[in-house]
Amino acid sequence: MKKIGFIGLGIMGEAMAKRLLQNGYELVVYNRTAEKISKLGASNVVPALSPAEVARNCEIAISMLADSKAVEEIVYGKGGIFESMKPGFIHVDMSTISPITTRKLYNDYKARNAYFIHAPVLGSKSQAADGTLLIFAGGDRAVIDKCKDIFIVLGKKVWEFDSVEKATILKLAMNSMIATMIVALSQAFVIADKSGVSKETVLEILENSALNSAMYQNKGRTIINGNFEPNFYVKHILKDVNLILESAMDLKISLPVISVIRELYIQALSKGYENEDYSAIFKVIAELAGVKI
Ligand SMILES: NC(=O)c1ccc[n+]([C@@H]2O[C@H](COP(=O)([O-])OP(=O)(O)OC[C@H]3O[C@@H](n4cnc5c(N)ncnc54)[C@H](OP(=O)(O)O)[C@@H]3O)[C@@H](O)[C@H]2O)c1
Repeated sequence: MKKIGFIGLGIMGEAMAKRLLQNGYELVVYNRTAEKISKLGASNVVPALSPAEVARNCEIAISMLADSKAVEEIVYGKGGIFESMKPGFIHVDMSTISPITTRKLYNDYKARNAYFIHAPVLGSKSQAADGTLLIFAGGDRAVIDKCKDIFIVLGKKVWEFDSVEKATILKLAMNSMIATMIVALSQAFVIADKSGVSKETVLEILENSALNSAMYQNKGRTIINGNFEPNFYVKHILKDVNLILESAMDLKISLPVISVIRELYIQALSKGYENEDYSAIFKVIAELAGVKI
């Protein structure tokens, strides 16, 4: 049985860890809130008390964490990976984090004769559960090759890049579309609603049009059902919108639409929707338009 480390059992991490367990991996698992480890409910799970314990017992570890701060904490912090890893250790972070952080981690691992791969993913909980994530893997090609068996279990396609930043930025580019598309759908819903046309009709027209997407249909249905149970938190899409704007600044490009959308997500935060699904942005747009939710 192949043994690897796994750090972070949030919405995505739990589904990804279960997928690896079902596919013959033994996992040495750390989560900040230790009780969540029991949710994995499998015999091939070895709980670890710290990221350092994961690194002491594995040659490769995956992390799937909230943000850059969390990833830095499990590497550099007390009980972190750097306290115990051996030369040649491979850390594959799959979270959506900052390109400055992924570059720093890559360099700091290199300086310790170890390796950092950034492999963020497109897809949510259900794609994580059935192994159909899209994976953008950046870093040393030879090291990415060593992680291929893991990526095949978690994803349906892997794009490889020769630097960590390319993978990091590509994920942010994809999330700029997610953040924008949900606003576009919400706007279409409120325009239709104000004109006495149902959201169902909007979805039906989309379904027959070149504009359609699986995302519009899935999120459209959950919005219609008033279901804002989180698959992807408002607080995380806002984190990503902030990272997109920071990266745009570094690249000296203007992204005016994302700047405006950021304000909408901040309003979602101030209305207390931060732990709801990002589609709760519909409620902000509906409230602005005076449309009953
Ligand atoms: N949800 C999605 O659809 C989706 C899709 C693609 C990518 N992503 C990205 O994937 C990452 C994880 O997303 P998620 O939805 O699984 O998030 P989540 O449910 O909020 O899980 C976050 C994880 O990070 C841990 N964590 C947070 N702060 C920490 C810290 N300071 N030190 C150590 N651990 C810490 C949490 O531990 P506790 O359990 O102790 O809180 C939890 O395990 C994010 O970067 C997100 O943007 C999400």
